[in-house]
Amino acid sequence: MQNKDTALFTSTFEQEVYEGLTAFPKYLSSKYFYDAIGDKLFQDIMAMPEYYLTNCEFDILETHKEEIVSLFVHNESPFSLFELGAGDGRKTKILLQHLVDQDADFDYRPIDISHNALELLAKSLKKEIPEVIIHPLQGTYFETLRNIGETNGRRKVVLFLGSNIGNLLHPMAIEFLGNLKDSIDEKDLIFMGFDQKKNPQTILDAYNDKTGITEAFNKNILDRINKEMGGNFNTDQFLHWEVYDPQSGTAKSYLVSKKDQIVEIEALGLKVHFKTWETIHTEISQKYDDDVVEWLAKKSGLKIVTSFSDPEENYKNYVFKKNSP
Ligand code: AVJ
Repeated sequence: MQNKDTALFTSTFEQEVYEGLTAFPKYLSSKYFYDAIGDKLFQDIMAMPEYYLTNCEFDILETHKEEIVSLFVHNESPFSLFELGAGDGRKTKILLQHLVDQDADFDYRPIDISHNALELLAKSLKKEIPEVIIHPLQGTYFETLRNIGETNGRRKVVLFLGSNIGNLLHPMAIEFLGNLKDSIDEKDLIFMGFDQKKNPQTILDAYNDKTGITEAFNKNILDRINKEMGGNFNTDQFLHWEVYDPQSGTAKSYLVSKKDQIVEIEALGLKVHFKTWETIHTEISQKYDDDVVEWLAKKSGLKIVTSFSDPEENYKNYVFKKNSP
């Protein structure tokens, strides 16, 4: 492997690809799945019968929207509704429509790492619920927390749907939630989705569909490296592999090299050697139960106000507040 002066990276994507592919064992961050093609593939995932998460959360929001919205509206003081990882906003629109129907005084501030997703969201909202005042913000979760903290005056409600928190291992989740707690006030709320532990087969199937959509989604990170950094990954020479540990509740995605091969990434001045069956770890999708969520909340200075669930308890949405000492 060749060396590259760190100062020459033109983006954090480049830097993180360099770090991840020169590390042992190799890894890449799932936050780089999401360009226009990755966004579309994730929408296809959400529409798959195996990917139960989206429908569960959709049903929870539809069933409990009155109670949820009345929590948000509180004493009718105006508020800003932030959403981390807004994506296509399909589920959020249930709440937005209900807020508009209730004449709630709010604005909507969707945050996403994908510029493309935000543009599509703003466009579709303008058409479907034009009453909503929208201020989109592009960035990673950690980058945009500061922005949440700075928006003073108005009450804040922060949405974090889709079990997106599951991409973070517990220590990172605690750091993130702790930062989120520091950027809100006593009267503010966090509304968050957590996919629950369940039959391990159901979880494996959700991340290993027979049609190969999840495989294409996982491999999109290699396609992006090819396109954006002059890489020459042959994605057919990698296997999509999913494991789920029912004890820790952690689902992990890998790309496994089917043969001994060297991949060149021009923009990084890098040649990466893969041994046969060597892995790149690409994503974690953590699953939870009440005890773990309570533990996470406590560790990050939050408390659970209430929660909503589907009848089978496959998925839960929790409402958190700052735990003022
Ligand atoms: C968007 C992070 C919630 O981990 O379930 C779907 C992404 N990865 N299938 C998840 C994903 C593979 C998804 N999140």
